[in-house]
This record gives sequence, C-alpha cells and structure tokens, in this order.
Amino acid sequence: MIKFIDHPLIKDKLTRMRKSETQSTKFRDNLTELTQLMAYEVTRDFEVNTIEIDTPICKTKGYKLKNNITIIPILRAGLGMSDGLKSLIPTASVGHIGIYRDEETLEAKTYYCKMPVNIKESITIVLDPMLATGSSAIAAIDILKKDYKPLKIIFLCLVASPEGVKKLSEKHPDIDIYGASLDEKLDGNGYIVPGLGDAGDRIFGTK
Ligand code: URA
Repeated sequence: MIKFIDHPLIKDKLTRMRKSETQSTKFRDNLTELTQLMAYEVTRDFEVNTIEIDTPICKTKGYKLKNNITIIPILRAGLGMSDGLKSLIPTASVGHIGIYRDEETLEAKTYYCKMPVNIKESITIVLDPMLATGSSAIAAIDILKKDYKPLKIIFLCLVASPEGVKKLSEKHPDIDIYGASLDEKLDGNGYIVPGLGDAGDRIFGTK
C-alpha cells in the first residue's frame, strides 16, 4: 500500500519546509508537526485491546494499543521525525539504523544497527524524511526482514521521488509506504526535485 496523505495543514507546513529561507529551528518544528499529522493516518488501523479502567465516577471500558510499536529512524535525517512520533506513542520503543552510501560502489552500507529486544513482537515504523533513490530504505528493510522479522513494516517519509517509490515498492511489495508529497523526479546528484534540499543539513544546521 502506498499513500500520500492529502491535508491542508500538511501542504502548508511542507511548503514552509521547502522554502530555502526557512531556518533549522522552524524546519525541525515543522518536521515534528508534519510527522505527528501523518502519524494519525499511519496508525489509523492499529488494533486495540479492551481494558477495564476506573474513572473517578465508575468502572468503564477503555482501550490500549494491542501491539508494541518500534520507531526506527534511519540516521541521520530520520532522527528529525522520531521525537514527534514518540510523543504521540510514548510506549513505543526506538531502534536506530545508520546507513551511508559507498562513493565507489554507490551501494548502501550499514554502519550501525541497534534494535530493542521486543522487535519481533513489534509493528515497526521506519523513518526517513526523503525517499530519494530508495537505496537506504531498501537496505534498512532488508536488515529488518533478515535479522529481526518484526510483525509488520511501515515506511514513513515526507517527500518521495517516483523513482524511489517504484524501487522500494518493487523490492518490498509487502510494506506500507506513507508520505506527504510525491515530487517530480530525482536530479543527477540523487536530490529530489523540487524537494527541500539536504534534509539532514537543514535539520541539524550543518550547511
Ligand atoms: N536526501 C536528502 O536529504 N535530500 C534529497 O533530496 C535526497 C536525499
């Protein structure tokens, strides 16, 4: 399933992020808010268990998320999305995966991977604001499937290229992909057009 979430607040905030004059603090705030808005849609079908609770007045029926949720930011830009999601799902665990591109072979290489112990019983939400070539997302999901076998894998990005969506959905047709915008294309340097530039640099103010 591939879904680009269409909502006026998402359009407005994403436009603010795209503008080159938007500074890191505002960029980060908008990314957090956008992640939270998208989370509403991403988690829509999550199952709940019924529980009994006491209100100050009487006993009543309440609900609790049925499955563990594990948030997995792909370093480094994915970190910009993890706090927003964690604040909405405070019981979620967090795993981290670091991937870089080997400049000679252009292959995605994993340099760091640390997952929580309950990952096998988790619905995982892999985070990266930019789905560009799709190589990092594919590498992260390859590792999750091979070494951790979670209950379900969801990939959540902000902006995607048609090339990245095609590559990821062909390699991993069983995962759900969510985003805020399907942009026009990739340029010759692997940047999304019109995109928003280097998401990591804009989040962390490194350029
Ligand atoms: N990564 C980014 O940060 N931006 C792009 O446009 C592509 C990949």
